[in-house]
Amino acid sequence: MKSTFKFLVTLAFIITIILGQHLKDVEIEVKVNDLLHQMTFAEKVGQMTQFSGTNKRYEQMIREGKIGSLLNVIGAEENNRLQKIAVEESRLGIPLVIGLDVIHGYRTIFPIPLAASASWDTVLIRKAAEIAAKEAASAGIHWTFAPMVDIARDARWGRIAEGAGEDPFLGSAMARAQVLGFQGKSLADPLTLLACGKHFVAYGGAEGGRDYNTVDISERTLREIYLPLFKAAVDAGVGTLMSAFNEIGGVPASANQFTLQTILKGEWGFDGFVVSDWNSIGELVAHGIAKDRLEAGVKGLTAGVDMDMEGRCYTIDMEALVADGTLSEELINDAVRRILRIKFKLGLFEHPYIDESIQKELILHQDHIQTALELARESIVLLKNKRDILPLNRKELNTIALIGPLADDKDAPLGTWRCQGKQEDVVTVYEGLKNKLGDEVKIIYAKGCDVKNNSRTEFNKAIKVVRKADIVVMVMGESADMSGEAASRADLSLPGVQAELLNAIAETNKPVVLVLMNGRPLTLSNVESKVTAIVEAWHLGIQHGNAVADVLVGDYNPSGKLTATFPRSVGQIPIYYNHKNSGRPNNPSDKFTSKYIDLPSSPLYPFGYGLSYTKFKYSDIKVLNNRLLSSDELVVSVNVKNVGKRDGDEVVQLYIRDMVGSVTRPVKELKGFQRVALEAGEQKTVQFRVPVQELRFYDSDMKYTVEPGDFSVMIGGNSVEGLTANFKVISLK
Ligand code: GLC
Repeated sequence: MKSTFKFLVTLAFIITIILGQHLKDVEIEVKVNDLLHQMTFAEKVGQMTQFSGTNKRYEQMIREGKIGSLLNVIGAEENNRLQKIAVEESRLGIPLVIGLDVIHGYRTIFPIPLAASASWDTVLIRKAAEIAAKEAASAGIHWTFAPMVDIARDARWGRIAEGAGEDPFLGSAMARAQVLGFQGKSLADPLTLLACGKHFVAYGGAEGGRDYNTVDISERTLREIYLPLFKAAVDAGVGTLMSAFNEIGGVPASANQFTLQTILKGEWGFDGFVVSDWNSIGELVAHGIAKDRLEAGVKGLTAGVDMDMEGRCYTIDMEALVADGTLSEELINDAVRRILRIKFKLGLFEHPYIDESIQKELILHQDHIQTALELARESIVLLKNKRDILPLNRKELNTIALIGPLADDKDAPLGTWRCQGKQEDVVTVYEGLKNKLGDEVKIIYAKGCDVKNNSRTEFNKAIKVVRKADIVVMVMGESADMSGEAASRADLSLPGVQAELLNAIAETNKPVVLVLMNGRPLTLSNVESKVTAIVEAWHLGIQHGNAVADVLVGDYNPSGKLTATFPRSVGQIPIYYNHKNSGRPNNPSDKFTSKYIDLPSSPLYPFGYGLSYTKFKYSDIKVLNNRLLSSDELVVSVNVKNVGKRDGDEVVQLYIRDMVGSVTRPVKELKGFQRVALEAGEQKTVQFRVPVQELRFYDSDMKYTVEPGDFSVMIGGNSVEGLTANFKVISLK
C-alpha cells in the first residue's frame, strides 16, 4: 500500500512538472503571437537582423526596431546601455539578444575544445561550460556561439582545434555536455547562456582541409558522421544552431532546404532558431546561386535560416516580394516567432538587464581557475615515454634545460577563440616548472628559435645551455593563430626551424622530453625518433604551465586519449580510425592491397591512444548474452587492473563492428567509454550496456535500422588494441 502511495505521489509530481512546463510554453506562444501581430514588416525583418559591435547608426536602428541582436559587444555596463535603448526607446520594447564566441571560457580560459575532448571527461567539460556561462552572463552576454560540433577528419583544417575530433559517438557526448553546461536547467537563469550548435553542417569535410571549401559527401556520410553531434545538441535542448559557410554537394549550407527544413526543422522538430554564420547568406552570391543580396536573402530564408549575421540580406526590400507573392510572409513570421520564443525563454522581457555588480566577484574566481587546472591536466596526452624517463626525478635532477619558442610564451596557451582571455592570466611552462620545482632543481631557459621564422641565430646559445643540463625539456609547436578559423596548413610538421633545433639538440645525446603545444594533430615522423618522451599539451588555457609541470614531475599521472588521429604524413589525410575495409584491405605482404609504397598505412598515433605512468592490464571480456533481439542491450564487461606502481585513470573504450551489412560498414565504431580510476594494484570490472538500437545505420534503402547478423566487440585503452568477443543480433523483434 505504502509503495503504491509513493508511486502515485511521484507520478503526480512528475505530471505537475510536465504540465507546468507545458503551461509555460503555451503562455510563451500566446505572448509571441500577440507581439508578432503588432509588428510592422520592418520590425519583423529587424528581429531577423544581427550586427557586430555598435555605433550611433546601429543605436538609431535599435531605436527603430531594425536590429534584433548584436554580437561582440563587451561588458555588463555597455550591454545594459544598449539594451535600454531597445527596451525603453523602441516602439515595442523588444529586448536585444547579445551573442559572443564563448568557446572555451570567457575570462577564465580552459583548454581548447580539441584538448578538452582528450580528457573524455564529460562531467568536467560540462562544469567548464557552466563556469564560462556564469562569467559571460555576468558581463551581459545572453548567447554563445558554441559548442562547435563539426566532425573533423582532416588535420589540415585549422578549425579541428574547436571541436571534439573525428568520432560521432564521442563528439555527441561532448556536444551534450557543453549544451547542458552552457544552458543549465533554465534559459531564464540570468547566469546561463543560450547555446548554439555550429556549423550546420559538415563544415569540417572541406576538400583539401581548406577552410570554407567545397564539401561533397554522400547522404549516408552526412547522416552517420556529421549530423549526429547536432542531433545530440538538439536532443540536449540547444536553443540555436548556426548555418555554415560551406556548400554540401552543390547546395550551400545556408541555403540548404534539405538539411535545414527537411532534417532539422522537419525530422527533428527543432523549435529554436537558426542564425547564419557571418554573412554566409550574403556569400550565396559568391557561391553563384544568387544574383544579388536580395535573392540571397530569399534563398536563406526559404531554406530556414531565421537570423542573418552581418549579411544585411533580410531587409525591407523583401516587402515587395511578399506583396507580389514571390515570398511568403509566413516564412518571415515563422522566423520571428522562433526568435521571440527564445527571447521569452531567456526571460529577457521580464529581466532585460544584468546586475552589474556580480561580474567582479565571478570573473576569474579561484574555483574557476582550479577547474581550469583540473581540465588542463586531464587534457594532456602522453604519446611516448621511453625508459620511463617521465616523470622527472626531482631528487636526482640538478639542472633542466628548458628550450623552445613556446616554453615561456603567454599567448599560445590561450589558443584560438580566446574570448576575453588575457596573457596576464596565463601560467607558462617555465613559470609552472619554477612554481613546482622552486630552487630544488635549476632550470636554465633558452628560446632557441621562433615558432615560424627561419632564424637559427639562437641555436648555439641553446646548445650551450643544453650541455650544462641533465635533461632537456623542449616546448615546441604552433602559435595560437596557426589553428582556428582561416588557419588551414598544408604542412603539419613543426613550423619554422623548430625541428632543426630539436635535431641539433638531440645530437648532444642528452635525453629530450618534447612538450607539444598545438591546435591540431601534427606530423612528427621527422622528430619522433630523436626524443625520449612526447607530451601532447595542446593549448591548455590559463593554467597551461601548472598542468604541464604537474604531469612532468608526476604530481598528475597523464590520462588523456587522442580524439583525432595523428598521421605519419600529411599525404595520408584523410585518415581516421572508423574507416571502411575496402575490397583489398591493407596487407603489407600483398602488393595489390590498399597501401602506400613509401609509408606504412597506419597512423603515427591512433584515435583513443594515450599512455600513463602506470600500466593497465585487460582481462576476462564477457558478453552476458550473445544472441540479442533489436530491443535488447548488449551487456559486456572486462576486468581492468592497474599493474603498475602509481595510481592512475584509464579511459576504457568499447568499439563494435558490424561484420556484414546491406552496405559497407566501418571496421569499428566507438560505442562506449568510461574513465576509471585505479589505485596501484587495484582491479575493477568495467561493464558496458549498449542498446542494440545504438547499432543502427542507413541501410541500402537509406532506412535507419539495425540488421540481424554477426557483430564483434573490442574493449581496450585505444582504438587499435583490446580484447574481443562476438555476438549476434538475431531478429528485429
Ligand atoms: C565566424 C565563425 C563563427 C563565429 C562567427 C561569429 O566567422 O565562423 O564560428 O561564431 O563568425 O564570430
